[in-house]
Amino acid sequence: MGTKRQFRIWRGDADGGDLQDYTVEVNEGEVVLDVIHRLQATDAPDLACRWNCKAGKCGSCSMEINGMPKLGCMTRMSTFEENETITVTPLRTFPIIRDLVTDVSFNYEKARETPAFAPPPDLAPGDYRMQQVDVERSQEFRKCIECFLCQNVCHVIRDHDENKQAFSGPRYFIRAAELDMHPLDTRTDRKDYAQTEQGLGFCNITKCCTEVCPEHIKITDNGIIPMKERVVDRRYDPLVWLGSKIFRRGQVPQTSVTSGHSPGAVRSSAAGGGVHSHAGGSHDAQAEVQAQQGVNWHREVPHPTAPAVDASGKLPLTELTFDRAAAPSPFGDDVTFPLPPEHLNFAHPDQDKPNH
Ligand code: SF4
Ligand code: SF4
Ligand code: FES
Repeated sequence: MGTKRQFRIWRGDADGGDLQDYTVEVNEGEVVLDVIHRLQATDAPDLACRWNCKAGKCGSCSMEINGMPKLGCMTRMSTFEENETITVTPLRTFPIIRDLVTDVSFNYEKARETPAFAPPPDLAPGDYRMQQVDVERSQEFRKCIECFLCQNVCHVIRDHDENKQAFSGPRYFIRAAELDMHPLDTRTDRKDYAQTEQGLGFCNITKCCTEVCPEHIKITDNGIIPMKERVVDRRYDPLVWLGSKIFRRGQVPQTSVTSGHSPGAVRSSAAGGGVHSHAGGSHDAQAEVQAQQGVNWHREVPHPTAPAVDASGKLPLTELTFDRAAAPSPFGDDVTFPLPPEHLNFAHPDQDKPNH
């Protein structure tokens, strides 16, 4: 039997609403989302709340708990005082749909406005060669679960609807930073885009976004500040400005060009093959040769192994006596990892067209 705790939850819709008090049972180890589910099962069956994974990975259950933007499924009840009343309200920056559910389409619009990743036009998807050194800095930003807590807390739009058109918000600044740090992205200068189109200049580095990020992404220190610094360099340092006029991105010579972000990244242009390799800092000669040869689309690859059950769905007796636990590898049992480059399987839609 759990203890009784006090909750105040905002109930209402776009036309208005208010906080309502609930007394609800809480058991050891529960999180706020558990309590909301219990309320739905008992006192408030029509309480609206968005959630999916209950594991801090889908980013759906964003809400404000005692005024702090948090994930309901990752906020333990044990972090509150026994006699504390817990107030749960919807995200304030986005329009209310009902109760704890808000309309976050602002974020999807900003996502659509952000130019997508654009590799060099002569580089087919199956020919990308990336190594850890190439993604060392940008990998952090890929952890984003799109919970939009950072967007919700940012003062530029939190109480200023009028700024929304000109401001994309921290989630999309790190998207720009990620693509800017991507050695194969050539489409635009992401820093200039962030400054002129995404409203980077509105941000005054309060770091509130970093503080609420459940993935602990250093949004300001690692994403926003490096972009801001380099925007300033570009605009006000005459040498950098002159250099940028002489060597534009994408116009640098094609042989042994090192990326500005990853000194070990190598782009090589194989004569006729058009295959590019980012062989990182390892300079593995064999890997480089294999990469130059490209992918052999017609090679034999191991067939997926059938599931370890018979036609009637039962586990065969031999499986129980087998010396290896669990199911066979879907890649086949003769495969070792990491896969050599010539075994990489990528079905590019244009792979059978001439010239590929
Ligand atoms: S650091 Fe910038 S983007 Fe982040 S919350 Fe503050 S103003 Fe918004
Ligand atoms: S950057 Fe962090 S806070 Fe912002 S949407 Fe992604 S995971 Fe959420
Ligand atoms: S339910 Fe998926 S992050 Fe909370």
